[in-house]
Amino acid sequence: MAAATAMVIMLAALAILAPSARGLDRAEFPPGFLFGAATSSYQIEGAYLEDGKGLSNWDVFTHTQSREINDGRNGDVADDHYHRYMEDVEIMHDLGVNSYRFSISWARLLPRGRLGGVNTAAIAFYDRLIAALLEKGIEPFVTLHHFDLPHELETRYGGWLGAGIREEFDYYADVCFKAFGDRVKFWTTLNEPNLFTKFAYMLGMYPPKHCSPPFGTCNSGNSRREPYVAAHNMILSHAAVVDNYKRNYQATQGGSIGIVIAMKWYEPLTNSTKDILAARRALSFEVDWFLDPIFFGDYPREMREMLSSNLPKFTSEEKRLLQSKADFIGVNHYTAIYAKDCISSPCDIKTYEGNAMVQAVGERDGVAIGRPTAFHGYYDVPEGMDLIVKYVNQRYENTPVYITENGYSQLSHNSMEDLINDVGRVNYLQGYLTCISSAVRKGANVHGYFVWSLMDNFEWGFGFTVRFGIYHVDFETQERTPKMSGKWYRDFLTGSRPVDQAQTLRADS
Ligand code: BGC
Repeated sequence: MAAATAMVIMLAALAILAPSARGLDRAEFPPGFLFGAATSSYQIEGAYLEDGKGLSNWDVFTHTQSREINDGRNGDVADDHYHRYMEDVEIMHDLGVNSYRFSISWARLLPRGRLGGVNTAAIAFYDRLIAALLEKGIEPFVTLHHFDLPHELETRYGGWLGAGIREEFDYYADVCFKAFGDRVKFWTTLNEPNLFTKFAYMLGMYPPKHCSPPFGTCNSGNSRREPYVAAHNMILSHAAVVDNYKRNYQATQGGSIGIVIAMKWYEPLTNSTKDILAARRALSFEVDWFLDPIFFGDYPREMREMLSSNLPKFTSEEKRLLQSKADFIGVNHYTAIYAKDCISSPCDIKTYEGNAMVQAVGERDGVAIGRPTAFHGYYDVPEGMDLIVKYVNQRYENTPVYITENGYSQLSHNSMEDLINDVGRVNYLQGYLTCISSAVRKGANVHGYFVWSLMDNFEWGFGFTVRFGIYHVDFETQERTPKMSGKWYRDFLTGSRPVDQAQTLRADS
């Protein structure tokens, strides 16, 4: 009884502390603005060997190198979304989202790549999912590659290292456009190829686990060269797929196609010229690395100068292909961080920003850049969102932007009460959405926002030790429970006006 009273008092206190969605009004966003939640195939689907699915790079990596995953676990079952997708669509409907960002599992659709057959059970699964979404007025926003690919292609081409993967990706995308393009109006080619290539080929933390000292110890790899070779193939794969979509599908299907880039905002650690240049360099190695070739046909000057022969060159024919550009830019933004120059100061450069001769630092004079989150190096700094959106709008011809991911992490070993009463996440989402709302009112060319993630899921190298969901998932029972943030998002989305904009959206697109 005493415990129950204490619980009531605690919940009441949390309710007072928790910010409400008041003050942030969905109606202030332009009509047709997409509000959604995001997931990816390997992180949620499970059913890893069911209905003809082939092994993916992540299936093999987690099974053979479980030491690389914090809790030694894998995505064999994950959120069991493959079987529970109807419940998950119901959850989204309840939330009031008008869009859902998910990825297709390449290995489920084409278990052996282009040399094998198309798995019709996979087509049927995504058909059912898309139908269920549309039935509820939820627009599918589909990613083709979110870190997972058929293991056979990893073996055949060394993953993204071999130029042969470009034809494979082109074929895979074409199968998707043919099968789903009559109903899918938003496509993205690649999710965070900039982060992916660094984790896979520089830091050796994602399959195929390539790296070289000082970045790490792996059986093979060259951390100074391979990330750029893989990235080159990814950029050209993106270009070929966009070109195909524009030439053969866009006019009849009426959709748009973009790319999603991971973007931190880098703030100079001090106001010295060297740190200001370091922040500039870090952005260049993070954002311009992919978007400059896509929009301007070549790598940024900073990268060409610093990497010289380690950075591949585009032929004139490839430059012509790059003119397909992208209809929109997906921005995955989680944090801002200070950039410290490592050209003239001693630093730890065996890190994500190392090749740019930059060290990312969370504190200036002992004061953190924002409230820390459970993820090392990720802080709650809403102003960073405004700055990165401005940067992208200004540099890339005011191309429309969708915030394709933004979210907050918790450590799984917290109590269920703490995980559910995620005041920190509510504050985070409120801060970032307020910033986006004000940026949009001031003219920022932003058309949508997706919270990462709809539900707790398999967090790559962190396994299930970290949770990003606005829905809690009990991985033993697969029970989904809304967190305070899920309720907050629902209040925000449903509070101000009925969520029936999907029709308008479809008419617009
Ligand atoms: C990825 C997601 C991941 C999230 C949180 C992004 O880098 O696209 O797959 O779960 O960040 O780490």
